Amino acid sequence: MLEFKPTTAIAKPALYADLLEAVRAITEGERDAVANMANTAALLWDFLPDVNWTGFYRVVGHELVLGPFAGRPACIRIPFGQGVCGAAAASGEVQLVPDVHLFPGHIACDAASRSELVVPVVRHSRVIAVIDCDSPSLARFDDEDAVGLVAIAHLLADRI
Ligand code: SME
Repeated sequence: MLEFKPTTAIAKPALYADLLEAVRAITEGERDAVANMANTAALLWDFLPDVNWTGFYRVVGHELVLGPFAGRPACIRIPFGQGVCGAAAASGEVQLVPDVHLFPGHIACDAASRSELVVPVVRHSRVIAVIDCDSPSLARFDDEDAVGLVAIAHLLADRI
């Protein structure tokens, strides 16, 4: 069995440092993108408290297509520029959304979601995927979460 998660509650930067090392270790030397996204989605789900969806959308042509994830079944295809994920893919910028009901065009895959953090994965200056985390709590994510997820996205750029 692979066991990575800290056994006691720790501050966010330390949690993300541990999570980054877990992602690094489990994807090290593995060339299969689906396997690496699947294990990363599972680690995000395992490490992060108060989330109801963690996973990937991949850039395929001119839209995003659902990738490996943990949580309830989700929308399969998202055009660039639509929803929070489409905004991240189109702009290449992190989308930190404290209240999804206030985000124009938010796509409600799960009505329970109240806040969301989406981080683009960029390879050779092109967005190749986004990492999406949803929470049932308002304002669940902050800059520390964004910094943590950006580091994971950076690591994964040539592993997915
Ligand atoms: N809420 C996202 C759609 C994906 S689900 O959250 C898994 C969005 O607005 O892009």
